[in-house]
Amino acid sequence: MSTLPNRTIVLAGGAGGLGSATARALAAEGARLVVSYRQNAARAEALSGIATLVQADLARKDDRARLLDAAPDIYGLVVFAGNPSRVASPDQLDEALRLSHEVNCLGPLLLAREAAARMKDAGTPGAIVLFSTMQAVALFPGSTAYAVEKAALIQGARILAKEMRGPANIRVNVIAPGVTQAGMAEASIAAGKYQRYLDDGVIARYGRAEDITRAVRFFLEPDNFITGQVLTVDGGLTL
Ligand SMILES: NC(=O)c1ccc[n+]([C@@H]2O[C@H](COP(=O)([O-])OP(=O)(O)OC[C@H]3O[C@@H](n4cnc5c(N)ncnc54)[C@H](OP(=O)(O)O)[C@@H]3O)[C@@H](O)[C@H]2O)c1
Repeated sequence: MSTLPNRTIVLAGGAGGLGSATARALAAEGARLVVSYRQNAARAEALSGIATLVQADLARKDDRARLLDAAPDIYGLVVFAGNPSRVASPDQLDEALRLSHEVNCLGPLLLAREAAARMKDAGTPGAIVLFSTMQAVALFPGSTAYAVEKAALIQGARILAKEMRGPANIRVNVIAPGVTQAGMAEASIAAGKYQRYLDDGVIARYGRAEDITRAVRFFLEPDNFITGQVLTVDGGLTL
């Protein structure tokens, strides 16, 4: 028996590769879903049969409030929104870091804090899951713009977890995916960027969207007793 039917779960930035796979899995369990997207309305529309769709840029305070208003009885929040913040030359780093801060840290973290405050005010337990990356838990040259902000997100999530522990029972955890064949990594995989990890026997295969979906589901389980943790789902790549 699923424990999720009729629980309202917000998937912020959830119309992308990992988000849409998770949306389908949670919908199959009967969860009530609110999915937000920023600009790709056509891609989000594919989820219209299983979720309420909200356009929201998480870097904007009004948009974050509007998204949470669409889920007054929120139980779960999963924040998929992110940007790989790729930098082609050193002189792009300044601007890339600023943009990365908004998309990969500020927006997700403030949304999580605002959702947690609403859960606490409502007196209901909740589960919040944020998305970092393997690049935030290990060192990959060239990843400064992306990894620094995703690492800051982890620290912010752990602080929030500590603030929300205890009777409020609002748990906050982070998933750090490795190279996953969905969403933003697909093009890099196709271009051979990570092929050496297979050739050298570092990983047995690339991650699949369902590897991530299972991790999200684990943290969303209402009786889960884990908070303030980072779960790296990378097949051992960063060991
Ligand atoms: N795929 C991987 O291998 C991998 C590995 C490590 C970490 N991750 C992390 O996993 C999460 C999901 O990634 P994905 O692979 O599913 O990527 P994706 O398909 O590119 O999805 C990213 C989503 O973020 C949304 N978004 C971007 N900026 C936003 C903003 N300011 N406000 C609201 N939404 C925003 C995008 O919406 P629009 O398209 O509508 O703008 C898109 O739906 C990301 O946080 C990513 O960093 C992924």
